[in-house]
Amino acid sequence: MTIATADPAPSLMRHEFPAGFRWGCATSAYQIEGATAIDGRGESIWDRFCAQPGRIRDGSSGAVACDHYHRWRADLKLAADLGLNAYRFSIAWPRLFPSGRERAPNAKGLDFYSRLVDGLLERGLEPWVTLYHWDLPQGLQDGGGWAARDTVAAFAHYVDAAARALGDRVRHWITHNEPWCTAFLGHYEGVHAPGIRDWGTALRACHHVLLSHGLAVPAIRAAARTARVGIALSLHPLEPATPRAADRHATHRYDRLRNCWFLDPLYGRGYPADVWELSGSEVPEVRSGDLGAIAAPTDFLGINYYFPESVGNAPGHGPLSARVLTPHDREITDLGWEVSPSGMVALLERVERDYRPGELYITENGSSYHDLVDSDGAVHDVKRRDYLIRHVGALHEAIARGIPVGGYFAWTLLDNFEWAEGYTHRFGLHYVDFATQRRRTKLSGAWYRAFLNGG
Ligand code: FCB
Repeated sequence: MTIATADPAPSLMRHEFPAGFRWGCATSAYQIEGATAIDGRGESIWDRFCAQPGRIRDGSSGAVACDHYHRWRADLKLAADLGLNAYRFSIAWPRLFPSGRERAPNAKGLDFYSRLVDGLLERGLEPWVTLYHWDLPQGLQDGGGWAARDTVAAFAHYVDAAARALGDRVRHWITHNEPWCTAFLGHYEGVHAPGIRDWGTALRACHHVLLSHGLAVPAIRAAARTARVGIALSLHPLEPATPRAADRHATHRYDRLRNCWFLDPLYGRGYPADVWELSGSEVPEVRSGDLGAIAAPTDFLGINYYFPESVGNAPGHGPLSARVLTPHDREITDLGWEVSPSGMVALLERVERDYRPGELYITENGSSYHDLVDSDGAVHDVKRRDYLIRHVGALHEAIARGIPVGGYFAWTLLDNFEWAEGYTHRFGLHYVDFATQRRRTKLSGAWYRAFLNGG
């Protein structure tokens, strides 16, 4: 019989990281909460998307997910038992504003997050709130969603209500999670809600998401004076698939969209000119004052780091004529994502060198492997544990090189609804049996707990 232990003993100890370092887990509302039709919650674009045949790999949805809406106390206990001092979660916009257009927030929705925040504080977990983790009220989508400029004002209204209600207890606010995914997976590749495939629509949605971030920053500070505000970007180190000039140029173009399309305007440089020109008449309308608003100074930058990408020249493949190639000779997770702890160090170094964002946080990092529950009930996710150990090591290396990283949020506390992959991929430090809702701490979770408790 195999026995779940936290071996190998971590070579690094928690106390080797700076004092006050945030050790957390990250989650998001639609992926864990379930309870999509109670207490006045309105429909979100993900409810609608999941109901369309063929959109989600296993035909599932987040309607029940981890039932966290009812089980949050037990889940916060799991988080506290790991020894975390911070916890990142998102607010479901349609719980507060069911159609996105109400003037006053839904009290029952606000109460849920208010209790959650109190529960976190009681357990010594600092709440880190994400305001938009992809669940737009369907009512706003019906009016054009992020591609419509009106959604920016609706977001500012929602943010103001959330910050007023929780700002006395929540200090850390993340406006958007991974705007690249919102804009391009949702509006160009069409694999995420709302499932649109159009370059111009994606660019427009992207501009409005960034503008809404820019307007949210002062709105949060006005409602919560001690707030620290940032955004979480999905950034990737990129390399050309071959040393050929065509692949190097393609990598440069792709980088301008994948990374710089967000970093440049956020840090006051406007949109990268080359991608702008390649987009011809499909570029979004940028009104006077928009770029200034997007560049509102922030307190930190969140980076969701998962994998590097290898890029090849691909004439006619989208406006950038570039294609991401699946690496064949690399270590990959069961989702096909390359495992590269050194890529995280290189990415952090680049962002620090080129943008000096102040404080940096790894707001997500994690891996998907197909887990098995052993006959003894344990989940020996050795690969996920090693992934975590190696990335924590890389984080230490980055800090040793002088990069101001203030925290690390593992993705994720619980196996959950993994968007278009449904329940076919597991990222959790806790295994969830979705038939019974039983949670089991995996070997990876046991390692994190041992590391955080200095053992
Ligand atoms: C990120 C998302 C998060 C989760 C992980 C695996 O892109 O922010 O919700 O799906 O990937």
